[in-house]
Amino acid sequence: FAQGWVFIRGVPSMKFLPPEGPLEIAFAGRSNVGKSSLINAILGQKLARTSNTPGRTQELNYFVPDGYSGEGKDLPPIAVVDMPGYGFAEAPKEQVDAWTRLVFDYLRGRSTLKRVYVLIDARHGVKKNDAEVLDLLDRAAVSYQLVLTKIDKIKAAGVPRLMEETAQAIKKRAAAYPEILATSSEKGAGLDELRGAIALLLEE
Ligand code: GTP
Ligand code: MG
Repeated sequence: FAQGWVFIRGVPSMKFLPPEGPLEIAFAGRSNVGKSSLINAILGQKLARTSNTPGRTQELNYFVPDGYSGEGKDLPPIAVVDMPGYGFAEAPKEQVDAWTRLVFDYLRGRSTLKRVYVLIDARHGVKKNDAEVLDLLDRAAVSYQLVLTKIDKIKAAGVPRLMEETAQAIKKRAAAYPEILATSSEKGAGLDELRGAIALLLEE
């Protein structure tokens, strides 16, 4: 896992995507689920902006290992993409509609996208709009893994059962990775497991 990371680009629409490198991973999920916080936690740096207000991240934000520009021939071995959330956000409707469209277009149309981490708030479980995104990923045959977030907010004893229930719920989904991850950006839980999962992608 790279030591230092940098922000290279914020992408407001598909035509501003950087050149495709060897591998991209993206963090998707409902607004406020903890995407930006989890990226900061696994990279070990406060690079992505986080907020209590749903709708903080409004572009596709690209993070790459230090030393790569992402331009021309200088393509990084991996890019980590923070995404706007879907669902409720505190922003004008046209804006929310535009970034929701961007998220959906990106998820089904980015050929270098190796895996999507779909974040699910441990307190809320898989909601209707999550299921729509999973449907889209299944249809587009884009590999994804579910990651429970904010597990510090539920009783520790309930976590294994929640992981099991979530695994059962996605069993018949074509593009789902069977294992569920459980994380807390706040307490550091599950971060090594997530880093390990990403490191495996780099070896493939
Ligand atoms: P958008 O960009 O608006 O879609 O949100 P996001 O999914 O990027 O969420 P973000 O990382 O900004 O976090 C939203 C809120 O949840 C912030 O107030 C975070 O501090 C809080 N949060 C994130 N992760 C955790 C966690 O593991 N535990 C707890 N208790 N709070 C968390
Ligand atoms: Mg965010």
